[in-house]
Amino acid sequence: MSALAKIRETFRRDQVFDFVNKQDYSRVDTSHGQILYVEDVSVSFDGFKAINELNFYIEVGELRCMIGPNGAGKTTMMDIITGKTRPDQGSVWFGQNINLLKMTEPEIAQAGVGRKFQKPTVFEHHDIFENLEMAMAGNKGVWSTFRARLSSEQHDQIASVMEIIGLSDCAKQRAGALSHGQKQWLEIGMLLMQNPKLLLVDEPVAGMTHQEMDKTGELLTSLAGEHSVVVVEHDMDFVRSIAKKVSVLHQGSILAEGSMDEVQNNQRVIEVYLGE
Ligand SMILES: Nc1ncnc2c1ncn2[C@@H]1O[C@H](COP(=O)(O)OP(=O)(O)OP(=O)(O)O)[C@@H](O)[C@H]1O
Ligand SMILES: [Mg+2]
Repeated sequence: MSALAKIRETFRRDQVFDFVNKQDYSRVDTSHGQILYVEDVSVSFDGFKAINELNFYIEVGELRCMIGPNGAGKTTMMDIITGKTRPDQGSVWFGQNINLLKMTEPEIAQAGVGRKFQKPTVFEHHDIFENLEMAMAGNKGVWSTFRARLSSEQHDQIASVMEIIGLSDCAKQRAGALSHGQKQWLEIGMLLMQNPKLLLVDEPVAGMTHQEMDKTGELLTSLAGEHSVVVVEHDMDFVRSIAKKVSVLHQGSILAEGSMDEVQNNQRVIEVYLGE
């Protein structure tokens, strides 16, 4: 072997160092029926335990509602799943094979965990179609997107997402001119462009009209099945309208879990809400 070939061999970094191997996140192993495993997770902020030995599981295709008083740790729980906050202890697995605690925020998103924050962050100066185009999975950045021609599959994907979020009729409308509710749906659409397997949605109906709430409920319900969806929401009428299984978070732990009726009649849950 020539010296050069030897050097090349040595510097086949993908073979030399395990950690530079790009891990394959494309296959989430959900053969046991679970898409998310959160086990024994705790995190403290300046000595205050925001999440306290939290345990819960999300099934493939499930729509799970999470409720709980202010400060219960709902947003922090999402921060942990998406890699924004590192827990002090515990484990968080996406399917059986992907350890989310070992991954960066972009890697977690890439693996198929989409998150919708409360405030919509759409590109106000672009129209709906362009917003979805920019959010497309695998796009190489905003500028190349506009230079490159879309394939017909990409066109179809955008059209189908516009249909799902109910905005097909206003593809050319500037996002900045949309109502609050429409912006929220557009942002959900932008998440969908990345084909997430798990969607985390924090307070989706805050500030919405009743009509917009109904539409949001239908949208989230329609996403379940194909996706797994975790919805955090304070509005109890809304939760009741979409709820299958509900988890109640309190002081960083699950206080109760079950149907809406079960948790609303749970004595400990009643005490927590009355004591608010
Ligand atoms: N980065 C942080 N630094 C310090 N404290 C934090 C941080 N993030 C959250 N907390 C605290 O952790 C607790 C849980 O907050 P979190 O935002 O998760 O609650 P929540 O259930 O989402 O509440 P809400 O219903 O009001 O949105 C709160 O007491 C909050 O002040
Ligand atoms: Mg919150």
